[in-house]
Formats: sequence, structure tokens, C-alpha cells
Amino acid sequence: MPKRKSNGEENSANLQSNSARKPVKAGSGGGINGISVENWRDYPHILTDSLWLLGKRDSTGAHTGDYHGNFVPQIPQQIIERYSKAGEWVIDPFSGSGTTLIEAQRMGRNCAGIELNPEIAREAMRRVNSETCGNPVKIENLCGDSADAKIWAKAAALTPDGVFHLAILHPPYHDIIKFGEDEKCLSNSPSVEEFLNTFGRVLAHTHAHLAPGRFIAIVIGDKYAGGEWIPLGFMCMQRAVETGFKLKSIVIKDIQDNRAKRNQENLWRVRALRGGFYIFKHEYILVLHKA
Ligand SMILES: C[S@@+](CC[C@H](N)C(=O)[O-])C[C@H]1O[C@@H](n2cnc3c(N)ncnc32)[C@H](O)[C@@H]1O
Repeated sequence: MPKRKSNGEENSANLQSNSARKPVKAGSGGGINGISVENWRDYPHILTDSLWLLGKRDSTGAHTGDYHGNFVPQIPQQIIERYSKAGEWVIDPFSGSGTTLIEAQRMGRNCAGIELNPEIAREAMRRVNSETCGNPVKIENLCGDSADAKIWAKAAALTPDGVFHLAILHPPYHDIIKFGEDEKCLSNSPSVEEFLNTFGRVLAHTHAHLAPGRFIAIVIGDKYAGGEWIPLGFMCMQRAVETGFKLKSIVIKDIQDNRAKRNQENLWRVRALRGGFYIFKHEYILVLHKA
């Protein structure tokens, strides 16, 4: 990757605008990324702390941010640069509006997405194809259920070795946002237990199709139900550890602009004071490793 300048303390993860990015050459040599640790001063934009205050969303190019429930592009930017090399294969089994696909293309990584909703899957590819970064990589978005082995076999067949080098998983936070009517959608899981069981199947496929020594990142938040804080993040983390992944980091990312609560700050403050709870201002990026 070209050397980037730091653009401020709080906003160090807001990377260069798309137009400033150069086509990326396939990486060579060992390791899990293209970072030269001896030249660590050349990477001021790469976060190494466990608290991510990402500031303003990157809305360059195809990143419109209009898909309710998407993540900020700075998340896949950070993860892709840290845990993959140019020319390698990334998978996102909940690809949504294609934020990971767009970033992978910009950063010179091949990428497969899996998305249940056919309309959303098509729209994500339209966005990918509207980018003109010039990197000669393959970006494919498959429509299907990421808990199903067949779609993983299809995804793996896209790669030369049948394995991925990085997985980024951003599932629904159970039923907080409803992503459609399909009963296979994780947002329609009838209970937290069933949500975790289905997510556990996705984790098992991820583990089976990840190259040894490689990483996954799970982006997930918690929820309230029945007057109780449900720690979905830690529950998903536990499932991932039970699947065979080793936990490397729990990153706390701030939520600056939660649409569901926008313009209702006072109402939520009163609810919190009455109910004895704290208002969500964070979500998790869980980083795990396949030994
Ligand atoms: C939190 S969103 C991901 C958003 C994405 N990171 C982005 O930036 O646009 C979760 C996505 O998972 C999809 N989804 C839910 N259940 C699924 C399943 N079983 N298989 C594949 N995709 C699923 C939803 O349709 C939704 O688009």
C-alpha cells in the first residue's frame, strides 16, 4: 500500500480519499500483510489501540452510507490492511451494501461476498462496478444463505486454493434491524439462542474455509430486551472460540451517529435514568485467529 499521511489524532483512521489511492500490486513474501514492521513509522494511519474513535464516515466513491445497518468503510480498511496482502482473497458472508467488497477492490484484494437478499446483493455489485480504482482483482457477490455449506463451496471455488486469507463478518445484531422477510435471515431468528446457533454454523464454515494462521473480524453490538442488556458481542465471541478460533483482540468502536436514536437523545437519557442502564455508544470488533 502507498504510504499515507496521518490526518489528525482522533481521526487517524480516516484514510485518503479514493482518488488519492494508487492501484495496488500483488504482495509477495511471507507474513499476513504488506506492512513492513521495520518501517513502522510509515503507517501512522494503522490503528493498534483497542479503542477506535473513527470520526466521520468515509463517504468517498461508491460509499454512500445509505444502507441501514451498514458499517463505516474505515472498519474493513483497517482490517484488510492489517490482516491480508494485496492479491489475496477476503470473504464477507454478510456483505449487505458491499462496503467490504468496495474496500477490497480499492485495496487490491480479491473478495467474495455472500448476501441473502438478492436485491441488496445486486445493488452492492452495482456499487462495486461504479468504482474505477483500476486494481485487477476479482470481486464476486453470491446470493444465498451463509449458514449453508453449498454457498461456501461456490465461494471457495472462486479462489485458486479453495481458501480465504481473511474473513470479515458483520451479521445482524439479532433482531435490532430487520433485514427482510426471509426466515433464513439472522434478523428473523426466533430467539437469541437460535441466532447464536445459526451464526455458529457460519463460523464453522468460515473456519473450514480459512487458511491456517489467518484472521477473522466479527463486527457486532449488544441489545436490550425485556429490561435486560443482552451481551450479543460476548456471546458471539464465545461461539467463535468454541468453533476453534483464538481470541486476539476485543476492540471497542464508538457509535457516534446511531440512526435509531438520532434526535431522541433526551428521550433515551430519561429512559436510561429511569431504567438504571447506560445508552449504547459502542460496538465490538472481535479479532480472532485460526491457529
Ligand atoms: C449488518 S448487515 C451487513 C452490512 C454490511 N457490512 C454493509 O456495510 O453494508 C447484515 C447483512 O446480512 C444479511 N444476512 C442476514 N442473514 C443472512 C444469511 N443467513 N446469509 C447471508 N446474508 C444474511 C442481511 O440481509 C444484511 O444485509
